[in-house]
Amino acid sequence: MGAILVIDDEPGIRATVKDILEDEGYEALTAEDGPAGLETLKRESVDVVVLDVWLPRMGGIDVLKAIKADHPAVETIVVSGHASIDMAVSAVKLGAFDFIEKPLSIERLITAVRNARALSDLRVENARLKRSAVDSDDIIGASEPMGYVRDLIYQSARSDARVLITGENGTGKELAARRIHDLSERASGPFVAVNCAAMPDTLIESELFGHEKGSFTDAVARRKGKFETAHTGTLFLDEIADMSLPAQAKMLRAVQEMRFERLGGESTIEVDVRVIAATNKDLRQEIAAGRFREDLYFRLNVIPLRMPALRERPDDIPELTAFFLGRFSGGRARRMSDEAMATLKAHDWPGNVRELKNFIERIAVMSDEDVISGETVRHFMLKGDGSSPEAAPDRLDELSNLRLSEAREAFERGYLLHNLRKHGYNIAKTAEAIGVYPSNLHAKIKKFGIEAGE
Ligand SMILES: Nc1ncnc2c1ncn2[C@@H]1O[C@H](COP(=O)(O)OP(=O)(O)OP(=O)(O)O)[C@@H](O)[C@H]1O
Ligand SMILES: [Mg+2]
Repeated sequence: MGAILVIDDEPGIRATVKDILEDEGYEALTAEDGPAGLETLKRESVDVVVLDVWLPRMGGIDVLKAIKADHPAVETIVVSGHASIDMAVSAVKLGAFDFIEKPLSIERLITAVRNARALSDLRVENARLKRSAVDSDDIIGASEPMGYVRDLIYQSARSDARVLITGENGTGKELAARRIHDLSERASGPFVAVNCAAMPDTLIESELFGHEKGSFTDAVARRKGKFETAHTGTLFLDEIADMSLPAQAKMLRAVQEMRFERLGGESTIEVDVRVIAATNKDLRQEIAAGRFREDLYFRLNVIPLRMPALRERPDDIPELTAFFLGRFSGGRARRMSDEAMATLKAHDWPGNVRELKNFIERIAVMSDEDVISGETVRHFMLKGDGSSPEAAPDRLDELSNLRLSEAREAFERGYLLHNLRKHGYNIAKTAEAIGVYPSNLHAKIKKFGIEAGE
């Protein structure tokens, strides 16, 4: 449990408040002004600050802002004289937990500290619960290969060792990296993902290490790089094999030393970052072909984690399907028929979990069935709206910004229009092709205001 920090410029008040708090069993620290208090916050573990608003050097409001910015978990109780009540009120608006008027009432002080402490405990507890909730439903799959993956995730989360995640597209590499972060001691720090493939060579240094204003033509303002942003957290280097060799050399140095300079900057910046890397390529092969540095490979590959392809673990398909179907059906209870499930399990899913997820999303949006038939699954697998299942995400990306009901309607309208056109607006033919009754199709055409020839 952390201490209570008293920031007040009057020595008498500091000493009295410290005594009162210690009598109540708290550990109390003191500081004579804002800058000294902020220094203490950096060094010590503090849960609650008792802050005088009227301070020399740096005003209480500014101190409060700095506390909120750098130590968001710390609760602040503001102490003000009668004349500065307005300031105390604005302090509460800025996120102070409470304010107490001078002269201090011991009882009031103790109650405020106790409540602030309770809130900060609650917050810690919430963060813990959130982590364990994510725990139970995040990575789906009870198959043996996934059991192995899960064990490795737990084990590596306990250490700070670098992890290299390999696996085909859509096998859940990024998901695994996030899980490791969430389960680790760094969970309250940032998780920063960098797509190394998307970074042009000319920008990679500034992306990773940041730059000072004016260090190159486009550098209009000072900017932090990804390494700095990930300080105290985890840096996820995605698609690591797609970095150019010069970029790999720079990466090697940063990963090795955890020190670097911003572009155009003088001082060396040191960071505390855990690195997790991922690739869908075979790095040994890339090394053999001279496209990947072996020394970087050894730096990154401390703990190898291979995500199995979905076709290697068809037993996970029912659970994944149920999970996605539930998620995309807005709470409505739906399931796959046995025949539909058999079809899903027999498919080899080259795009792995992502492809399955997109496919289920599509069915959830397009079909009205509560028990989804084998016919529906085969229908969308074979032809869908004329494209392969992997082609769907773009449209789905667009639709996913809408509410489910709106998305379903937007999709249904487009889908009907497409099929009507294909069959020359012949109701009977269209109805047969998409598997609805002509009367039903009529009703939908009316509902969506579709006109022949549109
Ligand atoms: N075991 C799983 N349980 C639940 N969802 C999963 C699982 N595996 C993957 N997903 C989901 O599938 C999608 C793809 O996963 P992710 O982005 O982690 O894959 P990836 O291996 O990084 O893919 P790529 O190589 O294409 O970048 C995500 O939406 C993710 O949440
Ligand atoms: Mg990925």
